[in-house]
Amino acid sequence: MTEPLVLGIETSCDETGVGLVRGHELLADSVASSVDEHARFGGVVPEVASRAHLEAMVPTVTRALAAASVRLADVDAIAVTAGPGLAGALLVGVCAAKAYALATGKPLYGVNHLAAHVAVDQLQHGPLPAPVIALLVSGGHSSLLLVPDLTAEIVPLGATIDDAAGEAFDKVARVLGLPFPGGPHIDRAAVAGDRQSIAFPRGKYADGTSDFSFSGLKTAVARWVEAREAAGAPVPLADVAASFQEAVADVLTRKAVAACRATGVDHLVIGGGVAANSRLRALAADRCAAAGLRLRVPRPGLCTDNGAMVAALGAELVGRGVPASTLDFAADSSLPVTQVVAA
Ligand code: KG4
Ligand code: ZN
Repeated sequence: MTEPLVLGIETSCDETGVGLVRGHELLADSVASSVDEHARFGGVVPEVASRAHLEAMVPTVTRALAAASVRLADVDAIAVTAGPGLAGALLVGVCAAKAYALATGKPLYGVNHLAAHVAVDQLQHGPLPAPVIALLVSGGHSSLLLVPDLTAEIVPLGATIDDAAGEAFDKVARVLGLPFPGGPHIDRAAVAGDRQSIAFPRGKYADGTSDFSFSGLKTAVARWVEAREAAGAPVPLADVAASFQEAVADVLTRKAVAACRATGVDHLVIGGGVAANSRLRALAADRCAAAGLRLRVPRPGLCTDNGAMVAALGAELVGRGVPASTLDFAADSSLPVTQVVAA
């Protein structure tokens, strides 16, 4: 039997993503982003995102099918992000997926966005080892997960107690006058900076838990910049960006390595938009090598939200014979990471 061909739909935030995956092979990854419409507000406006998904949905599906040279009738199953995410935005994807499933008679999987961020790595690096420790860092989440079975068992080890890592990047970028979303801008600005120049705080650094806190760091950067401005001194943008980025990457990688050690798991996978960060990738590589751990991080385009990650998880579920969702499952803005498939 050939590997299952799965269409994946992602609409949890501001990216309308449609991907096509056969087994672990990526066939198409079409993304329409409404990020430009949110930029002037400094954050994603849910209602604007929902409307943009509605407009982009059918054209993005059409583009993905054309890119993969397949027809809708060829797919074996459809997968869609059921949560977590913005309620209205999720609803557009879930309703579209249900309509496609009903029209084609194909099975439908409502899947967990966070599990999909982990599953996407398989498209680049092949089957994930089990168990694996996953560090998930995005605009809405910062979590450490023990993943014994991507399709059935995900154990949360810790999470942020306040801001997510990406949220901290976005808020600090705003303080520095950089556009939204701030992560890529800080990443670029930091290249010319000295990451040791300013000692920003590292929340919960040595507390022995797998939890994170980034709100104190964000406030510390804002206070530091304010103090410079009040003194009439120029703000060294590159140094602030590099020092802030270092603080985030330092805490994330330290805790991820500690989680591997504590659980005896020797593979770490990093996913989510912040996994695109160059310093996080470099420091994770150094620290995993020093600790004798194997590291997997997908290429940046697969780290930020996309439909291929949903299709990747869908293909894994189909391949393992996991039953599809019933057509009446709901979009769930706070779907827990322990629930991989919506009932
Ligand atoms: O996974 P994602 O696309 O959407 C969510 O599920 O939230 O993550 C978006 C987040 C944003 O906060 C963005 O600033 C951050 O990922 N991000 C980055 C980089 N690229 C995207 N943060 C740091 N460095 C980057 N290169
Ligand atoms: Zn995401």
